[in-house]
Amino acid sequence: MADSVDKDGFTLTEEVQRRRTFAIISHPDAGKTTLTEKLLLYGGAIRLAGSVKARKASKHAVSDWMEIEKQRGISVTSSVLQFDYDGYRINILDTPGHQDFSEDTYRTLMAADSAVMLIDAAKGVEDQTVKLFRVCRQRGIPIFTFVNKLDRHGRNPFELVEELEKVLDIRAYPVNWPVGEEGAYKGVYNRKLAQVEMFEGDAKHGQWAMPSTLGRVDDPAFAEVLGEEAHRQLCEDIELLDMAGDEFDLAKVRAGELTPMFFGSALTNFGVQPFLEEFLRLAPPPRGRRSTEGDIDPESERFSAFVFKIQANMNPTHRDRLAFIRIVSGRFERGMVVRHVPSGKMVKLAQPQQFMAQERTIIDEAYPGDVIGLFDPGIFGIGDTLCVDNKGFSFEDFPVFPPEHFARVQAKDTMKRKQFIKGMTQLTQEGAVQVFRQPEIGVEAFIVGAVGMLQLEVLEYRLKGEYGVDIELRNLPYSVARWLEGDNIGKKPLKGMDSAMIIHDRYDQPVALFRNEWSLRYATEQNSSVNFALAPSRK
Ligand code: G4P
Repeated sequence: MADSVDKDGFTLTEEVQRRRTFAIISHPDAGKTTLTEKLLLYGGAIRLAGSVKARKASKHAVSDWMEIEKQRGISVTSSVLQFDYDGYRINILDTPGHQDFSEDTYRTLMAADSAVMLIDAAKGVEDQTVKLFRVCRQRGIPIFTFVNKLDRHGRNPFELVEELEKVLDIRAYPVNWPVGEEGAYKGVYNRKLAQVEMFEGDAKHGQWAMPSTLGRVDDPAFAEVLGEEAHRQLCEDIELLDMAGDEFDLAKVRAGELTPMFFGSALTNFGVQPFLEEFLRLAPPPRGRRSTEGDIDPESERFSAFVFKIQANMNPTHRDRLAFIRIVSGRFERGMVVRHVPSGKMVKLAQPQQFMAQERTIIDEAYPGDVIGLFDPGIFGIGDTLCVDNKGFSFEDFPVFPPEHFARVQAKDTMKRKQFIKGMTQLTQEGAVQVFRQPEIGVEAFIVGAVGMLQLEVLEYRLKGEYGVDIELRNLPYSVARWLEGDNIGKKPLKGMDSAMIIHDRYDQPVALFRNEWSLRYATEQNSSVNFALAPSRK
C-alpha cells in the first residue's frame, strides 16, 4: 500500500516531497501580484503576464463570494494558486494585502510551510511586512527574501541586508547580488555558482520568460560588458560578503533563523527564475503538525487536515460557505468520508475545489501541502481538525491574533436581540471577528476586535444580509490588546491603566485594551508582576 502509485505515477512519499506550499508576505505595492504572476508564467500556468493583474483589478470576475468585494473592487479573502515547475508542485497561498488586511492574512500563514518576504528595494522593510514576519517567526516558518524593483533606483544592497538584521532581527544570506551601478543594474551575481546572470533589455515589460547569460565573475569578458568600475565594485562587494557576512547554513534557514536573500525585479523578470529554482531547492516540503496524539507525519497513510479559513458567499440565493482546509497527512480522495473532530460527525467530502490560476476546478485527489475548498454545511470552524482515525485527534490550537481595531456593537432594534446574538455567535465561530464582553454591560452589546478595519464593515454587512439585523457600531479609541496573566489579576487593581479598558474574551480571560504602544509600555512598567501577553496562553 505504502508503495502504491497514483495516476501521475508517484508514491505518497514522492507526492509529499515534491510539494512546496508558501505565502508571499509584503507591504502593499511591493509587487506581490506581479511576482505571483511571473511565478505562474515560469510555471507555464499562464502564458501572458497580465492575467493575475486583471484579477486584482476586477476580482468579481473570478469570485462571486462577497458583495462588498465587488463594491470596493478588492479582495476580502484569500485563496490558493497551484502550478507545476520542474517536477515540483507549488501552492502559493494568496494573502490579502491592502486595506483588507485581516486575520485571514495571518491565518493563511498557518497553512504555509515557508514564506517569501517581498521587499521594495527603495522602501526597505515596511509596516505590514513586519507584522507578517513576526507571525512567521513565531511559528518557525522559514523565510526567503526577494528584494524587488531592482530595475529602478533603490537603496544600497548592504543597507538592506543591515535593515533585515536590525528591524527584523534575522540574519540574511544574499544568494545573489546586484551587478552594475546603483539604480542601473545589469544583472545579478550568483554566489553559489560564481556566475553573473545578465538580463537583456526590457523584454516588453517582462511579458515573456527571458533567457539569461551565464559566466564567471572573473571572466574578463564581464569587465568589458559591465564596465571597469561596475566590475571592480562587484568584486569588492563579493569579497566583503564572503568575509564579513553570514555563512550559508540550510539548518538555520529551515529553522527560520537565516533568510536567503535574492535581488531582482518582478516586472522585468530580472532574477525571478533563478530565485524560483533556488527557492524550490531550499524550501522545505510539507511539514507535519503537532496534535493531541503527537506529531502527525505527512507521509502517514491516514488522511488528516485542518480548517484555516472560512469564506462566506454573500450571494443571498445560495448562502453557502467554503471552508479551506490544508492537508497535513495521507491521500485525499473525492467523496471520502472523514471525521469532523469537534462535532464527532462523519462528513462526506463531495465537491472539493482547487484553484488553478484563475479557475476553480473540482479535484479527485490531493496531498499534504495542498489546500482545498469544501462546501461547508455549516459545521466547520477555524482550526477544526478532519481525520480518518476512529477516535480522532486534534491539531494544536489555532492561534488567536491580537486585534488592532475595536468597536462596541449592538442591535438597533432591541426586538432583534435574538437574531443579533445568533449572528454574532456564528460569525465569531467562523472567525469573522473576535468577540469580547465588558462585564458591566451584559449581553446587550458586545465589544468586537479585528485585525483590519474591513472586518468590522464585513460584520455589519453580514449581520444585515444574513441575519436581518441592523447594528449600531461605535468605534473605540484602542489599538493594542494584551491578554493579562498573573496571580493577582482581578484581585488587585492594576496601576497606570487610566486610559485603558479591561474586557474579557470568550473564555473569560481578561484582556486590556490600550490606546497605543506607549500606554502599554507605561502599564507594563507599573505592573511588574503581570504578564501582558500578545495572545491567550490557554490550551
Ligand atoms: P502588490 O500586489 O504588492 O500591491 O503590488 P503590485 O504587483 O500590484 O505592484 C505594485 C506596483 O509596482 C505596480 O505598479 C507594479 O507594476 C509595480 N512593480 C512591481 N514589480 C516591479 C518591478 O520589479 N519594478 C518596477 N519598476 N515596478 C514594479 P502600478 O503603477 O501601481 O501598477 P501598473 O500600472 O503597473 O499595473
